[in-house]
Amino acid sequence: MTTRALEDRYGRVATDLRVSLTDRCNLRCNYCMPAEGLDWLPTEQVLTDDEVVRLVRIGVDLLGIREVRFTGGEPLIRRGLTGIVAQVKEDAPNVEVSLTTNALGLSRTAQALADAGLDRINVSLDTVRRDTFAEITRRDRLHDVIAGLEAAGAAGLDPIKINAVLLRGSNDDQAPELLRWCLEHGYQLRFIEQMPLDAQHRWNREEMITADEIFTRLDAEFDLAPAAEPRGSAPAELFTVDGGPGTVGVIASVTRPFCGDCDRVRLTADGQVRNCLFAREESDLRAALRSGASDEELADRWIIAMRGKRAGHGIDDPTFLQPDRPMSAIGG
Ligand code: 5AD
Ligand code: SF4
Repeated sequence: MTTRALEDRYGRVATDLRVSLTDRCNLRCNYCMPAEGLDWLPTEQVLTDDEVVRLVRIGVDLLGIREVRFTGGEPLIRRGLTGIVAQVKEDAPNVEVSLTTNALGLSRTAQALADAGLDRINVSLDTVRRDTFAEITRRDRLHDVIAGLEAAGAAGLDPIKINAVLLRGSNDDQAPELLRWCLEHGYQLRFIEQMPLDAQHRWNREEMITADEIFTRLDAEFDLAPAAEPRGSAPAELFTVDGGPGTVGVIASVTRPFCGDCDRVRLTADGQVRNCLFAREESDLRAALRSGASDEELADRWIIAMRGKRAGHGIDDPTFLQPDRPMSAIGG
């Protein structure tokens, strides 16, 4: 068995695979999807558990994938999640497996996921105020997220990272409060600039809270110093807070793009390879898989899909077009 690299025309090699397990979600974050939800993928188009496990195995065994992150929509509403994690870890114990989740229901599954071999979780949480949470997510479920985080800690999932998006006029004045709460609980907080990936196509650059603005707001209340850790392909710029050991990250996807260091590739719940969040083309592995392609043939298709990866997301280009698929159907 020979391993080939998922290398693009610019010499970037993808070793980090993001797999969306469902496009559905039990929240309705207003910067992500409309209140009524979206037209979800029909079940028959969604990869089965076995199909997901097979494609991940091909990525790992034949194509050099070293990290696998399961995302959604909301991956915890995928019934087979624990089994998928267990099978991936059994096939490839050295691959780091993580989950990006809103943590609803995690209080019931954290231990089983840890037992299945899950290494880490990232929890999406934009506020620790009940009313703001209900306003942003359109669901009064903050208590469920907090219970999920506690269960994750008790199950030994460590470190626990929290991703937050700041929205003007909604939670943009709460950055210090969220950071203080995360530091108290030992969670690693990272703020992410809002990207043009909402289903409603309402994103606008002027409304976006920039990384500079986030830094300024935090710097007013904390003593921030650049953390020694090199940035590498990790997109977060890390700062120590008040002399450490606590840290905070800022992910400036829009204002300081890190496309040149990108080591990611994505697989959607319906089996399409996306070489970028903002890709305008996808490569259909599901059709090939269901028509009997061999592992090698699927690997060939995947390699070809990477050759088309663009140098950057081009959000600032006048010709930029938001992808048809929203974030919830791609995975974070
Ligand atoms: N820009 C940045 N982050 C987003 N997320 C969802 N939509 C966007 C967007 N348009 C975040 C969620 C979650 C992760 C999966 O992606 O808040 O943390
Ligand atoms: Fe669900 Fe995440 Fe979208 Fe919120 S941002 S609605 S948690 S998929």
